[in-house]
Amino acid sequence: MVLTNFTVIGGSASQSLAKNLANKLDANYIKTDVRIFPDGESKVIIGGKPTGKTIIVQSAYPPIDSNFIQALSLISKAKETSSQVFAVIPYLCYMRQDKEFLSGEIVTSTVIAKMLKAVGASKIVTVDMHSELAIKYFDVPIRNISAVSKLASFFKKLKLKDPFVVAPDLFWAPQAKQFAKILDTESTAINKQRNRKTGELEIKQSQKRDFDGRDIILVDDMISTGGSIVKATEYLKRQNCGRIYAACTHALLVDDAEKKIRDAGVLKIISTNTIPGKTNAVDVSDILAKSL
Ligand code: R5P
Repeated sequence: MVLTNFTVIGGSASQSLAKNLANKLDANYIKTDVRIFPDGESKVIIGGKPTGKTIIVQSAYPPIDSNFIQALSLISKAKETSSQVFAVIPYLCYMRQDKEFLSGEIVTSTVIAKMLKAVGASKIVTVDMHSELAIKYFDVPIRNISAVSKLASFFKKLKLKDPFVVAPDLFWAPQAKQFAKILDTESTAINKQRNRKTGELEIKQSQKRDFDGRDIILVDDMISTGGSIVKATEYLKRQNCGRIYAACTHALLVDDAEKKIRDAGVLKIISTNTIPGKTNAVDVSDILAKSL
């Protein structure tokens, strides 16, 4: 695919993905450097002057605020010399804060939307945004692409025993269904509830399914603390299932999440490269390229 006059700039959080994307688009690539000062401020250094249409690639995973402000800085700088700036933020932070769940809570996804517009983003591209509810807060065009079929295609190549696809909460039931369709199998969703004050998770009575001896693929948009996957794993193991795999688009895996998930009995965690890490098995650069 050749797009003339496109420049890709890889932010510090997404250098490798940005290079893959530049290759797919046959675009110029500009690298960046970042210095983090002792107080946590970041100084971003850009290795060239972009012109024409510019694509900034910078995922906003932890340290979230730092990576996000670097994205804003890059967009703002690119806007000075480019005709259009496309902000590719594969993991878009704060999208779980899409409404006022408890009185007084600030809906920070609206603030993210305002900031991206203010610095000059012409279009935003993200992957499996936590909540499409937040799309209405964006005044600039936003494209939310899904990595579900790519994740499912990865699992299709594995030799799984009569796989069953399970979403650890009702929210991702449609994506679990889509995943299962690619594997030509069934799916279900667990009724997980989170206490908004304490953050504690509880599994409410879920529809009874026969998991006996069947391999399970737990699918979710993100794994953060691992709490949701651990709860779902405990629930499924009580029902005598086979091996358990966890698939997600965004593997934030904060603190010892990975260990907790493995200790609970998950055999393997598979993620995309929206957040670089050792669980990455699926490259999203081709679906990003198609969306631009
Ligand atoms: C929640 O609605 C999300 O889809 C994830 O299930 C959740 O954010 C994962 O967080 P954690 O790994 O901390 O349970």
